[in-house]
Amino acid sequence: MIHYNGDKAVFHLQGPTYSCLLGVRDGVLMQWYWGGKLPDDAVEGLLECPGEGASFDSAFSRQPLAVPTQEKGYMGQRAISVRNAAGDDVLSLRYQGHRIFPGKKPLQGLPSSYVEQEGEADTLEIDLKDALTGVAVTLRYTVYADYDVLARSMTVTNEGSEPFELTDAQSAMRLPAGRYELLHLKGAWARERQARRVPMGEGSFAVKSRRGASGHENSPFLAVLAPHTTENQGEVYAMTHVYSGSFSAGVDVGIDGAPVMMIGLCGDVFSWRMAPGETFQCPEALFVYAPDGLNGLSHRMHPFVRQRICRGQWRDQPRPILINNWEATYFDFSFDKLLAIAKRGAEIGCELFVLDDGWFGKRDIDNCSLGDWVVNEKKIGGSLRHLAESIQELGMRFGLWFEPEMVSPDSDLYRAHPDWCLHVNGRERTEARHQLILDMGRREVQDYVLESVSAVLRSAPISYVKWDMNRNMMEGFSAALPPERRMESQHRYMLGLYRVLEEITSAFPEVLFESCSGGGGRFDCGMLCYMPQTWTSDDTDACERTRIQYGTSLIYPCSTMGAHVSAVPNHQTGRITPFHTRCNVAMGGNFGFELDLSRLSDEDLAEAKNAVAMVKALRATMQQGEYTRLLNPFESDGRAAWQFTDESRAVVCMYAPQQQPNPQPHRVRLAGLDAAATYADAAHGITASGAALMNLGLIFPEGRGDHDSWVYVLEKVSKS
Ligand code: GLA
Repeated sequence: MIHYNGDKAVFHLQGPTYSCLLGVRDGVLMQWYWGGKLPDDAVEGLLECPGEGASFDSAFSRQPLAVPTQEKGYMGQRAISVRNAAGDDVLSLRYQGHRIFPGKKPLQGLPSSYVEQEGEADTLEIDLKDALTGVAVTLRYTVYADYDVLARSMTVTNEGSEPFELTDAQSAMRLPAGRYELLHLKGAWARERQARRVPMGEGSFAVKSRRGASGHENSPFLAVLAPHTTENQGEVYAMTHVYSGSFSAGVDVGIDGAPVMMIGLCGDVFSWRMAPGETFQCPEALFVYAPDGLNGLSHRMHPFVRQRICRGQWRDQPRPILINNWEATYFDFSFDKLLAIAKRGAEIGCELFVLDDGWFGKRDIDNCSLGDWVVNEKKIGGSLRHLAESIQELGMRFGLWFEPEMVSPDSDLYRAHPDWCLHVNGRERTEARHQLILDMGRREVQDYVLESVSAVLRSAPISYVKWDMNRNMMEGFSAALPPERRMESQHRYMLGLYRVLEEITSAFPEVLFESCSGGGGRFDCGMLCYMPQTWTSDDTDACERTRIQYGTSLIYPCSTMGAHVSAVPNHQTGRITPFHTRCNVAMGGNFGFELDLSRLSDEDLAEAKNAVAMVKALRATMQQGEYTRLLNPFESDGRAAWQFTDESRAVVCMYAPQQQPNPQPHRVRLAGLDAAATYADAAHGITASGAALMNLGLIFPEGRGDHDSWVYVLEKVSKS
């Protein structure tokens, strides 16, 4: 997987379908190539460095530097920036040595992808050092034998005798020069991850979060596409971050026309002082090359995220069908009301009842009690154990909502420790949803969160936790740090949070954790290392969800995406969509309900029951099978279609936002089937070969009103 040719000083990183060539020239680490797989390192005569251009363009600005820094006339975006003790930021990193070993080591203090067995991956570590200041960098590249994802990270160590300040740290990968387009995921609360495709200019483009969370607004993701790339054709170069805090993801085109993609910490809200001897671990970045379009990207990312990012007992387990009381009751519930909803849930086959916000302190509205994780027994009619056991008696598991990183100014915790929140002395503490953020960088705060959440988890049979985070950082600084370290606050927060998540998920391995941040405001591979699923969006409108789930699915597998059926008119949009469509769209993720089942009509209840039975029958295919996007709702007048495929069947869902009279006939061609096998969907009278389904395609049906949808279950009845 990783070959080193010492004569040529070339490293060949060879994944299942990609190659990356690195090499050392005059002590400088070059990244010669990243793209389709090369059979070997026979590249004689192809790895020449351009020399000086004119006096304005030094050789350095024209060479394929693997770790560009401020030196010798390099004028582009830097991967590492350091302000040294002399006050300048010149950095000449030169090759010192390398190691290649089987497997992959965990990162110190940060989440990262992993191996189950050493033999499944090779890791290359390359040491670089600046002789004058002692800034030392170790780059790590892990190549998996069976996953088409290149994992990259780096550590920076102060091997000098003076302190310095690390002001930027990005994982960079160069692409061949050429014309490209960009794909990024723009959003906001309740409209997360809207796919945006724009022409790539010849300057710099970056998406960032300074929010202290990966955020609703920009996802830690960027893809560079060959022009005219479709779902199934065209070269895609993509990257994402195994980190949940502020980030920057950009692309910079230098004078040689070669784009350099970079993802890492956001230099606007980060710097780190390093004394002699100290090491800083940068977050991991994941890079994917796909020669076969956006589905090619997702087909590479999904199994990797499912099996080498997600972990723990729930990783491969069927995810429970849940009923959550949030949109059913908001804060206004009692034991009887909860039990009535749960009872209906049990009757239609739900497996988990989740009690959302409002069960602790005096929280009957969102302006108080965060931080006081004490059960309001009066409100829930007894102890939490009593409620949880009453749910269990109905045949369901019990789950609970927390928002542990937050504190309400109106709380006992805040009254006791007003300095425990992020703030700037002398300035107003800007509230959002009447709350402030605990300074998770402080050990005593971490311990308080760990102990208070654990005490509740120990007090009752709780099988599921929804871990929420409902605001972003504003005065995001730790009062516990000296002024010269204040810019470390956000990253120290993340390190503290990760410590808490590591400890709590290890202490309660049987609990299924789902992360949430006002819906999908912290949907990233960092959180997925601890919690194998995320609440995709607070927007449960089926029509909106087709777009949100489309964008999310570019990177994340459906088994990580919470998707619930809610009431109409929808609470976020006021839109009315048919019950079957809400069910069909929610089947695009981890299925559940978020409405008052005790108030459903008999007809809707029967549909809900059918949907639950269908999810149970098909969940192996939908959670573990291959997911393929067939129609893009951003481009097809809002029509969407997607397909789950495994060895035994294909499940296809189609959705049309509006019906037209006398519609143009439209077909949806399926993908990834066994061409010679026969597939049958008895309910729709279809029996056809895989080849016919992939070439001729299914007829997009004429609907019965707006927001209609259809699910086809094509069982493989004969094998090729
Ligand atoms: C956030 C979540 C919701 C719900 C509320 C509770 O907005 O995204 O699902 O849990 O908090 O306050």
